[in-house]
Amino acid sequence: MLAACGSGKTGGSSKVSVGIVLPTKDEPRWVQDEKRFKDALADSKYTTEILFSQGSSAKEKENVETLLNKGIKVLIIAPHDGAAAGAAVEAAKKEGVTVISYDRLITETDAVDYYVTFDSVAVGAAQGQYLIDNAKGKNVPLYLYAGAASDNNAFLFFEGAWKVLQPKIADGTFVIANSSEAVALKDKKELTRDQLGKILGQVTTNWEPSEAINKAQTHLTGAAANLKGDIAILAPNDGTARSISDVFGSDSDISSFIISGQDAEKASIQYIIDGKQSMTVFKDVRTLVSDAMGMAIDILDGKTPSTTGAYNNGKIDVKAKQTNVIVVDQENVKKELIDSKYYEASEFKGLK
Ligand code: BGC
Repeated sequence: MLAACGSGKTGGSSKVSVGIVLPTKDEPRWVQDEKRFKDALADSKYTTEILFSQGSSAKEKENVETLLNKGIKVLIIAPHDGAAAGAAVEAAKKEGVTVISYDRLITETDAVDYYVTFDSVAVGAAQGQYLIDNAKGKNVPLYLYAGAASDNNAFLFFEGAWKVLQPKIADGTFVIANSSEAVALKDKKELTRDQLGKILGQVTTNWEPSEAINKAQTHLTGAAANLKGDIAILAPNDGTARSISDVFGSDSDISSFIISGQDAEKASIQYIIDGKQSMTVFKDVRTLVSDAMGMAIDILDGKTPSTTGAYNNGKIDVKAKQTNVIVVDQENVKKELIDSKYYEASEFKGLK
């Protein structure tokens, strides 16, 4: 599926080619990335092509092969499944292509050259901190949800959230409502990857709104009266947050809930304005796109891209450029998203 082509000037020695592979068109988050890539490339002299993998590692590999056949020099890829994508990028490396892992780290392979990312541990910490700052009283039931275990970010988000929430679970501010694995680990502030995996195994949404709905319904059906009332919900991203919010919002035994999110998706901004989602973590995709393209251009120009740190992917330390994130709620939604020209006020109802 060919989604975008840059203008691609011919004749000059600077004619270059960058392939971009994104995980799915079904989530507004990645459509937003596509849009921002297109905006950034509008006046570019570089030829680019964006392909979507539609939640399939096989399709992703096919996309990479398509781009290799078109002679790309740099591949920017957000993997559907971080480990399964190894085969696709190994094929790219064999062709001498430089691989940039985009937003999600490709794991267990040495075929990744660079990683551009948001500070994902900080995303989770911001979600957890928001629940702490806004919960009232003691013994507040806490419902935990996480992303897909095939996505390294899901571990980082949960790790960040757990670090701040755990002391508040230990001191009785929160009571874990829906994960026996989390309860078993409630005295440990630092969790190993295996321990995180055990909790994720119980509370994953797989990044699927439908799975989030099913889990939330099951959890509420099984919850005793003392786990209802005024509650807090750690939801990993906006798509799942809206689904979980709809389920909890329709249970008459839930008096109020605080719920996190991430991505600043338009639908969730409307939910925040309407009081149905408490916060989102705004990850300015414009920055990620310009970092990724800046890196690609450096590589094409024979320069070494600048990096700010490294992430271990299970096999090697991948040089990384990391971007900060911003917490958005009703108080600052206008300033952060409208005044910054990320969205237009006319896209929302009831914005003050
Ligand atoms: C991204 C999030 C996104 C999630 C589901 C994560 O890897 O960092 O922004 O919501 O995947 O697609």
